[in-house]
Amino acid sequence: MLNNSYLQELLDAEQKRQHEGLELIPSENYVSKDVLNALGSVFTNKYSEGYPNRRYYGGQQNTDKVESFAIEKAKLLFRADHANVQPHSGAPANEAVYSAWLEPGDTVIAMDLSHGGHLTHGSPVTRSAHLYNFIRYKMKNVETGEIDYDGLRELALKHKPKIILAGFSCYPRELDYAKFAAIGNEVGALLMADMAHIAGLIAGGVAKNPFDYGFHVITTTTHKTLRGPRGGMILTKGHVGNPLKAPEKTIENIPTLVDRSIFPGMQGGPHMNNILAKAVAFDEASQPAFKEYAKQVVSNANALANILMKNGFKLITNGTDNHLMLIDVKESLDIDGSVAEKALDKAGLTTNKNVIPDDKLPPFRPSGIRLGTPAVTTRGFKTEHMEKLATWISESLKNHDDDKKLDKIRIQVKEFSSNFPLPSDT
Ligand SMILES: Cc1ncc(COP(=O)(O)O)c(C=O)c1O
Repeated sequence: MLNNSYLQELLDAEQKRQHEGLELIPSENYVSKDVLNALGSVFTNKYSEGYPNRRYYGGQQNTDKVESFAIEKAKLLFRADHANVQPHSGAPANEAVYSAWLEPGDTVIAMDLSHGGHLTHGSPVTRSAHLYNFIRYKMKNVETGEIDYDGLRELALKHKPKIILAGFSCYPRELDYAKFAAIGNEVGALLMADMAHIAGLIAGGVAKNPFDYGFHVITTTTHKTLRGPRGGMILTKGHVGNPLKAPEKTIENIPTLVDRSIFPGMQGGPHMNNILAKAVAFDEASQPAFKEYAKQVVSNANALANILMKNGFKLITNGTDNHLMLIDVKESLDIDGSVAEKALDKAGLTTNKNVIPDDKLPPFRPSGIRLGTPAVTTRGFKTEHMEKLATWISESLKNHDDDKKLDKIRIQVKEFSSNFPLPSDT
């Protein structure tokens, strides 16, 4: 219990919200009790600037072992030569790679935001976009989700990018990493994948690993499908050198360049409670049960997408290969994503409004809503539960202005959810 009753009330209210509703935001998940315990542990008290065995503070006999454990687990999970587990989150992980490899004015080719890319992939509102020159690629066919690889190659030949970035926050299909690699190798670009959304699917063996196709760097968050604490990580192929010495800027030296870019380049002391929680989560993701989880996430998404489409909803790319779906609610029901998100919220179903490719509506009132299955799968939902979930989604959207109906659905959602505890309850 917290001493401050106002803050305790807020914590209780959030506990209740998470228990009584269903989390369908594809970037969210429910962590295990062990991950929560690690986050709330005394490691939060410790400063440990530097890297294992090379710290600027004393008292590191335990932190060094924890960080080394997290690094070794991460390397094994993703077949990397090196892992930096210190990034505070996904955005600084991406910035650190840019700053490790680029000079101001250098070019990066990344996915267009409205076609699924992330803000940190060059949105004009970010700091990186002021420093570097971002060029966008898109899908060739939004009905199938196929990327315009010919267009990407033309852009690469014309602009000679220093980085080609594959990765997304809202793209429901598998990328063809071999095609990215062929183009990147032709122009001598660093091949970077931002796997924030699908890291858990890669670790679970149900999505392709970009390293198997010659990628040099993978950035990720640790809190989405990977089901760890909020945080980031950078995985690299290459030679691991001494981070205290500036190496030559070669692709082989990327691990050291990245380490130096995180600390002392961008961050100070790593958050050791968070790194303990990452170590716990990576250990959990190495267990056979996690493979089953990852498989179930994808089967659930596939089932949910098919039922929603059968119910008349337009999904961008007409389905999904991974954990996420993007419904075009404008075309499906002539409402915008903000109206849809609010109606679903009232029914206890949490989603987020999202732009669709080349959306004609603005980001605060976009045409789509994005949803996914990582969190409900953690709670134990199986494919047979997707029919019920699809019905609630469908009924809530069709009755978006009927508060009584939405409240009725909320009660059904609450009753049903009570059969599916959060992992931290058990
Ligand atoms: C692909 C991708 N990269 C980076 C990020 C940024 O991560 P964070 O919010 O942890 O900074 C996200 C977050 O949604 C993401 O989807």
